[in-house]
Amino acid sequence: MHEGVEKILVSEEVVQHRIDGLAKEILVKGEDNIMIVVLLKGALVFAADLFRRMPVMLDLECLNVSSYHGGMESSGVVKFLDTTMPNFDGKRVIVVDDIYDTGLTMKSVCDKIQNSGALSVESCVLLAKDKKHDVDYEPDYVGFTIGDEFVVGYGLDYQGKYRNLPYIGVLSEDAI
Ligand code: IMP
Ligand code: MG
Repeated sequence: MHEGVEKILVSEEVVQHRIDGLAKEILVKGEDNIMIVVLLKGALVFAADLFRRMPVMLDLECLNVSSYHGGMESSGVVKFLDTTMPNFDGKRVIVVDDIYDTGLTMKSVCDKIQNSGALSVESCVLLAKDKKHDVDYEPDYVGFTIGDEFVVGYGLDYQGKYRNLPYIGVLSEDAI
C-alpha cells in the first residue's frame, strides 16, 4: 500500500475487470460515430483503459473542467477551462468522468454538449457515490457504486496527488 492510504476500496484487478464490462455495455448499444470526451484530469487514467477496450473507429476529445479545485468538497460551480470546444456535430458522445458525486459536473457538461449539435450524449463514470445527488440526472454507465466517502487513486486526487495509484483507496486521517 502507498503512503497515506488507509485501505484499498477497489483493487486494481477488480477495476480492470469491470472496465471490460463497461466497454462491452457501451458497444452493445452501437458502434458508430462514437466520440469519447474525457474530463481532465480525473478521468484520464480510466478513459485510457476504457477506450483501448473499444476496438472500433472513434474520436477522442478532452475537456478541462473543474469543480473541486483540489479540496475534498465540490465548490458547487463547474468551470469550463478550455477556450474552444470540439465539434460534436453528428457524434454519439460518451462523456467519461472518474466519479459522480454531486452530479453537477456531469450534468453541466452533458447539457452543454447536447446543445452543441451532438447526435446523442451518454455518460460513463467509474464510480458513483451512493447519496442524494444535487441534480436530476443519472449516469448511463457506472463502474461501481461506493459509499459517500472521499476516495483517491486511479486518476482521482487529493490536492493534486495520488492520481497514479492503480487502485481506488481511502486516505488515512494523518494524510489529510
Ligand atoms: P460532482 O460535480 O460533484 O459530481 O463532482 C465530480 C468531480 O469531483 C469529479 O470529477 C472529481 O474530480 C471530483 N470528486 C468527487 N468526489 C471525489 C472523491 O471522492 N475524490 C476525489 N475527487 C472527487
Ligand atoms: Mg478532481
